[in-house]
Amino acid sequence: MGNFTMRLRQNVFLISLIAGLLLWLVYFSYASTRLRLVYFSYASTRLSRPDVSTTTKWLAPIVWEDAFDLTVIDNIYKPQNITVATTFFALGKYVRFLKDVLESAEQHFMVGYRVHYYVFTDLPDEVPTVTLGEGRQLTVIKTSSSNRWQEISLRRMEMIEKLIEDEVINKADYIFCLDVDSKFYAHWGAESLGDLVGVLHAWFFGTSRDQFTYERRPESQAYIPFNEGDYYYGGAVIGGRPDKVLKLVKTCRMNLDVDRANKIEAVWQEESHLNKYFLYNKPTKVLSPEYLWDDRKGKPSFMKVVRFSQVEKNYAEIRPNP
Ligand SMILES: *[C@@H]1O[C@H](CO)[C@@H](O)[C@H](O)[C@H]1NC(C)=O
Repeated sequence: MGNFTMRLRQNVFLISLIAGLLLWLVYFSYASTRLRLVYFSYASTRLSRPDVSTTTKWLAPIVWEDAFDLTVIDNIYKPQNITVATTFFALGKYVRFLKDVLESAEQHFMVGYRVHYYVFTDLPDEVPTVTLGEGRQLTVIKTSSSNRWQEISLRRMEMIEKLIEDEVINKADYIFCLDVDSKFYAHWGAESLGDLVGVLHAWFFGTSRDQFTYERRPESQAYIPFNEGDYYYGGAVIGGRPDKVLKLVKTCRMNLDVDRANKIEAVWQEESHLNKYFLYNKPTKVLSPEYLWDDRKGKPSFMKVVRFSQVEKNYAEIRPNP
């Protein structure tokens, strides 16, 4: 009898132990599931833009406000001590735009990163003095002037090509080529960095492909037929790794030269050639129109922020020819 009681006690002990373990396991898995759910719901409310597309068909990110976590991104790029080369072309009367674009860049563009501005101009004496933050510098490059703005636009590719080969390829990790007749209005940071970066043109965002102002004459190297094309990219922003941007500007420059020899000028000059290039060499990151808006355009609801915008200007007054 005593033997039986002993065994019963042992069994009760074992059964309670196992039951306890099971209860603890059930509780633990419940708790961790709950933690994970909390994490997921936090992530999805924080990083979601159901109103716009945040990836291309080739799975490149399209950068929109509220669709990225800047803390995570800065934690990736800050320790790399990167330098971002940035070019502006300020020929003739366009020098008047330098002050605003540089001052606003100091407030909003790649703040906390090393930035090297390269200003191309035929009027170096008229480049304004702008106070630059720590780790930021400016180099003025004297260029010859031109009587036609189309010519200036055509030669930009060639000048960027030379700058990258001579200097940027060894000195910078990324490059942005930006239009000078513009201004920064809000944060533009490391979320914009990528191997090859293009921007969606404000005026063509959401319009059908047939309305894109691609070059439609087959005689031009920039020709894109009506049933092709992904987006209409703005020529005012080109970015990426220096070697990738070098390949882009070299290809566009060569195609511009072929067109010139054939006495044809693409409808939007270098922008037409850029669109052709991006059709066959897809950008690895696409910036939303937040990164290239137009001061003349109203702000639809999907535009939560305007970061960079082309300023209103009187073309007749600033261009050497209409
Ligand atoms: C960051 O890079 C610059 C130039 O590229 C260099 O002069 C500087 O020493 C670097 N800083 C650190 C902390 O590595």
